[in-house]
Amino acid sequence: MNIKRFGVSLEDDLLQALDEFAAKNKFPNRSQVIRHLIRKNLVTQRWEGNQEVAGAIVLVYDHHKRDLQHNSTHIQHDFQDLILSVQHVHLDHNHCLETIAVKGKADSLTELANRLIGLKGIFHGELVMSGI
Ligand code: NI
Repeated sequence: MNIKRFGVSLEDDLLQALDEFAAKNKFPNRSQVIRHLIRKNLVTQRWEGNQEVAGAIVLVYDHHKRDLQHNSTHIQHDFQDLILSVQHVHLDHNHCLETIAVKGKADSLTELANRLIGLKGIFHGELVMSGI
């Protein structure tokens, strides 16, 4: 890929904030931070514009909760065209961690995530909004 160089003018405090962010997040240099922030912003815009995106829905739940797995599976079948893979890990005797990789229109992925996260018995749920 062709790399272009350009000069950036920033106020002292903004540059300091950028460097602190870079140090805190272990970025090797300013270029890598700026690259990360631009891509993060572009991905956010894709989600806000209901474009084609990808991500992961993470669910932690107690598998003893009545009907939870049945209801979750039912919803996942309704949205099966959006689901790339499902990984199920047993965290301890009671708790399961499920990571559902998803790809599709942002609004549809958000609806799927909200329906799963809102199920009775879900201990914690999160939609990781990513994309290319
Ligand atoms: Ni399990």
